[in-house]
Order: sequence, then structure tokens, then C-alpha cells
Amino acid sequence: MDATARAFGYRRGVPGTLALSATLAALLLAAAAIWSVRAAFRRARRRHGADLLRQVNALNELLGRLTLPGPLPPFGHGSGRPDFLLEVARHALERRPSIVVECGSGLSTLVIARCLELNGTGRLWSLEHDADFARFVRGEAARLGLERLAVLDAPLVATPLGDERWLWYEPSGLPDGPIDMLVIDGPPGRVQPLARYPAGPILFPRLAADAVVLVDDARRGKERRVLARWAREFPALAREVRGTARGLAILTRGR
Ligand SMILES: C[S@@+](CC[C@H](N)C(=O)[O-])C[C@H]1O[C@@H](n2cnc3c(N)ncnc32)[C@H](O)[C@@H]1O
Repeated sequence: MDATARAFGYRRGVPGTLALSATLAALLLAAAAIWSVRAAFRRARRRHGADLLRQVNALNELLGRLTLPGPLPPFGHGSGRPDFLLEVARHALERRPSIVVECGSGLSTLVIARCLELNGTGRLWSLEHDADFARFVRGEAARLGLERLAVLDAPLVATPLGDERWLWYEPSGLPDGPIDMLVIDGPPGRVQPLARYPAGPILFPRLAADAVVLVDDARRGKERRVLARWAREFPALAREVRGTARGLAILTRGR
């Protein structure tokens, strides 16, 4: 045994061989762990790269369709992603809805309002719990010359549904007629478990026969549970889920 081996505590004979084997095994395990972390990073990078491309392409198509007179405001963490906004725009342009209701305002509000303007028909009522943000969205709509919308100051209020109590938008500013298109992207999930559930019992009975409901974040656990509960309680609504970045559920009946 040379001096180096002695320095590392190796001994001659069986104990020395065992110690060497254990060290080799530990090195192999460490190498395998490093390799698998690197592979996971590569996969994540590829996924993010693919998503980035999808978002850029969606934004490109969206802006091409909208032909807005100015830029959209910057995207924030809470903003709808371009692939969601593009789906919203496609539905608004193809279906030409008269009454659109939205839960949770932002970029989608501006996109829908612009589509209604291009359609030359329809109006959007957007429920927003945050008064400052509602003011911001109204200002952006004015900057872009959009008029077919009302961003409603709708604070979250105690809302009894059956024997359950929820927090949901104060809905008194909504119009009376049947809703042709409903976009559900709020309230934020931190408000309560299954934060978006009340939209079902409160708004689904008001849907027009050929209405469409678009639900963002359909891949998230909370929204999946909300969708599952709606499916039990509103079996007449068929559901399709699109593979947008966050998942988009499309609910329809009779079309
Ligand atoms: C999921 S976001 C709604 C996003 C919106 N539908 C859109 O497409 O941008 C839910 C709530 O987050 C808040 N929010 C959204 N975007 C925000 C931003 N850029 N800055 C601050 N708050 C925002 C608003 O109160 C909104 O009602």
C-alpha cells in the first residue's frame, strides 16, 4: 500500500478491498445523480424553449389579428399567456358574442374588447376585485380607444351557495341578458380553496344555449378540482381541454 492509500485510511486485505468498493460505489452513485440532474435540466430547457416559441408565435398571430392602434401593456406574472389570449380572441371573433362576461380582468379584457370592436357588435363586462387594477385596465382600454367594455369594481364579498360560504365578486353590475361567452380567470387562487368554483353555480344558469365558457389554468390542481365539481353539478356542459401553457378548458352545450 502506498502512502496515498494509507493517508485515505485504506488497509491491506479484505477490509481495504471493502472500503475501496464502497468508495467506488459512492462515486458511481454521485455520478449517476449528477447525470440525472443534468438530464432533467436539459429536458426543462427544451420544454421552456418550446413554450417560449409557442408563446412568441401565439403573440405574433394575436397581434396580427387584433391590429391594435398601440402596444398592449406589459405582460405580468398574473397576465394571461399569449396562447390563452389567442384562443380567447379566436372564440370572440368567430362566435361574435353579444354579451361577454369575464372574471378577472387584464390583458384578456383588452383583447376581448378589441375583438368586439372588430366584430362591430357585443359588449364585455369584466369583474375585477382589485380597484387599483380595474382603474389601470380602464386606462389602458381608453389609451387603445376601446369602448365596448365595462370593467366593474367588484370586490370579493361573502357569497352563500347552498350551505357553503364563499368569497366571490359582488355581481350587481352584470347585465340581465343571457351570457354568450364567459371567460373565467379569477379570482386569484390565494383567496380561498377552489377560488373559481362559485362562477359555476352563479353564472352557468345564465348561459345562452350556444354559449362558450373558457377557463384558464386548467392544468393546475385547484382548477382541475373545480372543473371536476362543475362536471358533476352541470353534466350538460361538455368539456374539452386545450394544451396551452397553463391549460385551457372549453365548456359548451348544444353546439
Ligand atoms: C389570473 S389574473 C387575470 C388575468 C387576466 N385575465 C389576463 O388575461 O391578463 C387574476 C387577477 O390577478 C390580478 N392581475 C392580473 N394581471 C395583473 C398585473 N399585471 N398586475 C397586477 N395584478 C394583476 C387582477 O386582480 C386579476 O383579476
